[in-house]
Amino acid sequence: MQTKRQYFAIACCIVLPLLYGCATTNYGDNQFRLSMASSGKDVMWVPTKVEMADQMLALAQVRPGDRVYDLGSGDGVIPIEAAKKYQVRAVGIEYNPDLVKLSQRNAERAKVQNLVTFKQGDIFVEDFSQATVLTLYLGENVNTRLMPTILKMQAGTRVVSNTFRMEGWIPDQEVRISNGEMAYFWIVPSNIDGSWQWNGPPGLGDLRLVIRQKKQFFDGTLYQGNKRVADFEDGRIRGSDLEFAFAYQKMNYVFKGRVNGASMTGNLNNNPSLVVSGKR
Ligand SMILES: C[S@@+](CC[C@H](N)C(=O)[O-])C[C@H]1O[C@@H](n2cnc3c(N)ncnc32)[C@H](O)[C@@H]1O
Repeated sequence: MQTKRQYFAIACCIVLPLLYGCATTNYGDNQFRLSMASSGKDVMWVPTKVEMADQMLALAQVRPGDRVYDLGSGDGVIPIEAAKKYQVRAVGIEYNPDLVKLSQRNAERAKVQNLVTFKQGDIFVEDFSQATVLTLYLGENVNTRLMPTILKMQAGTRVVSNTFRMEGWIPDQEVRISNGEMAYFWIVPSNIDGSWQWNGPPGLGDLRLVIRQKKQFFDGTLYQGNKRVADFEDGRIRGSDLEFAFAYQKMNYVFKGRVNGASMTGNLNNNPSLVVSGKR
């Protein structure tokens, strides 16, 4: 539990230097400017620099058809950059109504108002499940509070955070941009935890696979009937694509496959004739 004094120290050490940097850039317009009074419910407004916004979108590999959502969208820089650079639809959810209006004016100035939407609302109430790319600049504590909702999103959703991690979810990638700031990247994994009936190729027979998943990592055990025949560690899942290695009857195997709801298909050792299918 942080005391008032700790919050003040955080404000002095992190927010004020950031604000000083921003103030010299004159964020805002003649109707609304960045100031200490730009309240924003869970965190105040500190804009992402355009260079960082571009790197975050590149890290997420934004492509045609994506729907980019920025949670706590401030002046709209990330949705506007997404629409400008990739011509994709982008949505910003922002609590402060003055910032929503500023971002709408910014979208008009950038001539992307047909692609971007800014919605006034609370990110802990609004629905962002339609996002294929989610961008954050909110602080580790707020990211971590959002994590349970993010983990229920469509597998493969790409998440990028400016500066802040999430507690208990190791990033899939970390990138230091040229001015030294960090961006963190995650891919929402399918839920594969639990027991699967595995229909293996000739020689492997029917097995039961029990997976113990920890976000994008997992370990597991293969059973033949009630007999434990193989244990493995270091399984990885990226969205719906999973991979793990195991040894069975003195042979080494690498399974690579894809999960689709309650079924998985793939093959062993990159051999298309060694097909494996699995069902929950
Ligand atoms: C650090 S700023 C980031 C702004 C923008 N995403 C960017 O990268 O430039 C955080 C923003 O989140 C907004 N915010 C804070 N809590 C919020 C909440 N619960 N719901 C919606 N917006 C919120 C603040 O008003 C502020 O504009």
